[in-house]
Amino acid sequence: MLRIIHRPPFIIHHHTSLGSTNDQLKQMSDAPEFTCVVADEQTAGRGRRARAWLSIPSDGLYLSILLRPTLPAQKIQLLSLMSAIAVAETVARYAVAGLDIKWPNDVLAGERKLSGILVEGISSTTDVPRIIVGIGVNLNHQSFPPELSDTATSLFLECGRRIEPDEFRDALLATVAKWYEAARHNDGQLIVRRWQELSSYARGKQVTVTLDDQQISGETVGLTETGALLLRTQAGGLRTILAGEVSRLRSRDN
Ligand code: BTN
Repeated sequence: MLRIIHRPPFIIHHHTSLGSTNDQLKQMSDAPEFTCVVADEQTAGRGRRARAWLSIPSDGLYLSILLRPTLPAQKIQLLSLMSAIAVAETVARYAVAGLDIKWPNDVLAGERKLSGILVEGISSTTDVPRIIVGIGVNLNHQSFPPELSDTATSLFLECGRRIEPDEFRDALLATVAKWYEAARHNDGQLIVRRWQELSSYARGKQVTVTLDDQQISGETVGLTETGALLLRTQAGGLRTILAGEVSRLRSRDN
């Protein structure tokens, strides 16, 4: 079943069940900017690095937004940071302890993952790119399967009450709209500054970054103005990380 809901500037296409909201939006070739696809459940929810995203009916928010930003290509990464800021600020309304963002866009509570974001570009017939921002937020899970139980959490587990997905969706979309305005006005500095305020990963964190063919360890020393992560490697060099999987080095790993 499909319901259309207007939440300016967004037009929400709310489905009961879909394979993946990102895939559905990709197929909507005439969709205008700010089209948003939401599903109560996904049967083939996708995460980064070809992982599956657990998408149980009504336990999570599964949502994708179409953006058509007139930004220089190297600043598209800011959309990923902006989306994580919007999720973190929305989660903060629920007084969650230990809120954090792991570069570039995993929102954590107490070091466990509360939300993941999958940003995908799709081919466009014009100069303006079509970008899909897919956001999954764990809202009402009371437990997770064994393979996720050490690393995932939900708002229910963090704040002890059920969250109405539509209420969270509307608050999140309003926050995305606010930060997208900053991105569109090329106010990358504001986004980078806010991301660094919200993330303990911005500076002074010992991490390992997994790239396609290697792993690099070092200490984070901030972001560039386009949102890349700066890493002081154990050999003393400075690396600019454009993409990769960041994991925290625990003291026993040092
Ligand atoms: C990750 O952390 O690996 C990213 C997870 C992104 C999941 C969301 S849920 C809504 C949208 N549809 C998908 O298939 N994936 C994203």
